[in-house]
Amino acid sequence: STTAHKDDAGVLTVGGVPLTDLVAEHGSPAYVLDEEDFRTRARAFRDAFAAYEVYYAGKAFLSTAVARWVAEEGLSLDVCSGGEMAVAERAGFPMERVGFHGNNKSEAELRRAVRNGVGRIIVDSFTEIERLDRIAAEEGATARVMVRVTAGVEAHTHEYIATAHEDQKFGFSITSGAALEAVRRVAAAGALELRGLHSHIGSQIFDSSGFEVAARRVLALHAAVARELGTEMPEMDLGGGFGIAYTTQDDPADPARLATEMTQIVEHECRALGLAQPALSIEPGRAIVGPSMCTVYEVGTVKAVSLDGGASRAYVSVDGGMSDNIRTALYDADYSCTLASRRSDADPVLGRVVGKHCEAGDIVVKDEFLPGDLAPGDLLAVPGTGAYCRSMASNYNHLLRPPVIAVRDGASRVLVRRETEDDLLATDVGDL
Ligand code: LLP
Repeated sequence: STTAHKDDAGVLTVGGVPLTDLVAEHGSPAYVLDEEDFRTRARAFRDAFAAYEVYYAGKAFLSTAVARWVAEEGLSLDVCSGGEMAVAERAGFPMERVGFHGNNKSEAELRRAVRNGVGRIIVDSFTEIERLDRIAAEEGATARVMVRVTAGVEAHTHEYIATAHEDQKFGFSITSGAALEAVRRVAAAGALELRGLHSHIGSQIFDSSGFEVAARRVLALHAAVARELGTEMPEMDLGGGFGIAYTTQDDPADPARLATEMTQIVEHECRALGLAQPALSIEPGRAIVGPSMCTVYEVGTVKAVSLDGGASRAYVSVDGGMSDNIRTALYDADYSCTLASRRSDADPVLGRVVGKHCEAGDIVVKDEFLPGDLAPGDLLAVPGTGAYCRSMASNYNHLLRPPVIAVRDGASRVLVRRETEDDLLATDVGDL
């Protein structure tokens, strides 16, 4: 994050708090969230996309405090489950600024969204259109609806997080005609108000051409709908997915550049099609919270393992692992790490940071040159763990999920506390 720096003793300081002090107070491992950095990134998107509504995608990381920061910085919030909605409710987040996603929202979740006055619900199937229309009618309400469409774009990212090609579960296909049919049904439904189309092409995307192609295809459908219904839909959402740098090799997108590019395409296409420009929105998650957090771990053991050809690799085991960061194992994600508790002048050695779980794939950082004198008790910091690490954390092997500690102006504050064994055992009610 932007406030991170190492002092003369080699101690990594974030938000004015030395990580050695942070661990002494809060324990290890811990997620460290740089509040100023988060707010600055949120604001950067807000300012760059000033003509847009910017929905922070809570799935990347959400807590009550973070929801409040999002509201304070003038962003809206994208939630995708009753649980995320519960956090928004507890934070007192203005519900008209919440968008509700999901390909299989339950009856109860939809009813809760309607009762709460959630600003918009993004529908993802014909079944859901019928279900939501019935629920809204039962509640005596009108639900504002966006139709999630599949733009048929091959986004260059990991298969599991690409969402705009045809053969996957999300959205209505534009090419098959399903999207147009979904729009017709929403428009005809008595308790639904058609607001616009929604497209999200995937996550951790660097190449803006995917967004361009998607925007063109969605606008073409937007125009077709205008011709058929005789009215233009007021909104359009182009989703999230903006990539961040995990290692020095990545070249992240700059919000201002993205905004300019996306706006130009939309303006150009609307002019060509003779359409008024719909009110645009986007849904960045990772690009806001990803770089704002690091994970700090304590080294437990260091083991030299011989590789073919005579080289060797230092396996550095830390006190967490795939339960607090599944992304390396699941997406083959690249992370880096740095010694955070002292300076070292030792020669670097090829290392791999692994966790304490019972499987060999429990890798946090695949390849990193680490100081040759790394030893038990040293602290390592892994940057860029703000998105989809705590939110995808598990209790695998009955490990306790680490806390999220916010740092700012030299002070630290617990946002999410460390789990306890009591937390773990509380749900185990089979044989008391
Ligand atoms: N909007 C929709 C409809 C989404 O499905 C997502 C992410 C976003 C916005 C936010 O995307 P972002 O700006 O954060 O890339 N667990 C995976 C990422 C899954 C993304 C799911 N949807 C990972 O760790 O890479």
